[in-house]
Amino acid sequence: MRKARKKEHVENYLRTSFKGDNLLSDVYLPHNALPELNFNDIDTSLVFLGKKIDYPILINAMTGGSEFSEEINRDLSNIAKDFNIPMAVGSETIALEEKEAEKSFRVVRDTIGDEGIVIGNIGGLSSPEDAKIAIDILRADALQIHLNVAQELVMDEGDRDFKGVLKNIESIVNSVEVPVIVKEVGFGISYDVAKKLYDVGVRHVDVSGYGGTNFIEIENLRNPSMDFTELYSWGIPTAASIIQVRKLPDDLSIIASGGIRTSMDIIKSIVLGADIAGISGEILSYLVHGGILNAKEYMDNTIYKLKVIMLLLGKKDLKELREVDYKLTGKLREII
Ligand code: FNR
Repeated sequence: MRKARKKEHVENYLRTSFKGDNLLSDVYLPHNALPELNFNDIDTSLVFLGKKIDYPILINAMTGGSEFSEEINRDLSNIAKDFNIPMAVGSETIALEEKEAEKSFRVVRDTIGDEGIVIGNIGGLSSPEDAKIAIDILRADALQIHLNVAQELVMDEGDRDFKGVLKNIESIVNSVEVPVIVKEVGFGISYDVAKKLYDVGVRHVDVSGYGGTNFIEIENLRNPSMDFTELYSWGIPTAASIIQVRKLPDDLSIIASGGIRTSMDIIKSIVLGADIAGISGEILSYLVHGGILNAKEYMDNTIYKLKVIMLLLGKKDLKELREVDYKLTGKLREII
C-alpha cells in the first residue's frame, strides 16, 4: 500500500496542472549599476548543519521505499554529490515497517559519502525510537519531521487525529543527537506555529509554503471520490511564510521551499532571511522528463544565474546578500 502510494505521488505530481503562486515575484530587488565586483569572486558557499557546502540549495524530501524510488534517490544523490549540496530523503516510515525498504534510502548515503549532508525524514507522530532508527539508517546529519495535515485530510486512508504532535516533536528534539528540522509539505508555516516549534527547542524550520507542489491536488488525483478543487489554493505562500518565520530570533535557521524553481526564487528567499532554499518538484521534473544530465544542466544554469543576480545586486557572498534593501509589492505587501 505504502509502496504503491510513493510511486503514485511521483506520477501524480507529474500530472498536476494547478499553478499556485509563492508570491516571490512580489519581492522587488534594486539593480546595482556599479557593483565593483569580479564575477569569478562571487562566493555562493555556506556552512549548513556544520558542513561546508557550495551552494544554498537543498534537494528536498521526496521518495524512498521501492525499486522505483531507489533509482530516483540514486540519481538525486548523484546530483547532490556532484554539486556538493545537501539532500533529504522522502519519508522513512516505510523503512521502519519493512526492513527491505531501507536499501532505497541507504543508497543516498552510499552515493554522497560521509563528507556530504544527508537528511532523514519522518512524520510528526513517529516515536523518538523510530526517529533514532530513521537517523541510523542514513547516518543522517539531521532529521526532518514533516507536518502534512492538509495532505492527510484529503487521503482516504489518511490520519484524522493530529493531537499531541508538538509534544512528540519536543520528545524527539530531546532524544536525538542530530538537529531536527520541522517542515511542511507545501502549505507553509505561520509565525505562531514557528514560535511554538521554537519554544520546544526546534532551531530549523523548512517553511515549505504554497506555490509549488500541491499535495491537495496530488492526493485528489489519487482519490477523486470527493472533489477538493476549492482547496487547491489553500496555504501560506512561501514568501509570506519566510517573512513571518524570520521574525523569530536569528538562531532559528530557515529553509525556504515551496515552488522554488529559479535562481531568482533562491536569491529572493535568502534576501528575505532564509539560509538555504529547498527544491523538490522542479528537479524531479527535469530528472524524470530528461534524465540525470538534463537535471544537472538545470543545476548548472541555476548556479550560473545565482552568481549573475548576486553580481547585479553588488553582493559578493550570501552574508552580503541578506543585507539587500528589498521592497514588498502587491499581494505579498497586503498580507504581510
Ligand atoms: C514530496 N514532499 C515530501 N515531503 C516530506 O517531508 N516527506 C515526503 O515523503 C515527501 N514526499 C514528496 C514526494 C513528491 C513526489 C514531492 C514532489 C514532494 C514535499 C517536498 O519535500 C516539499 O516540501 C514540497 O514538495 C514543496 O516543494 P516544491 O516541490 O514546490 O519544490
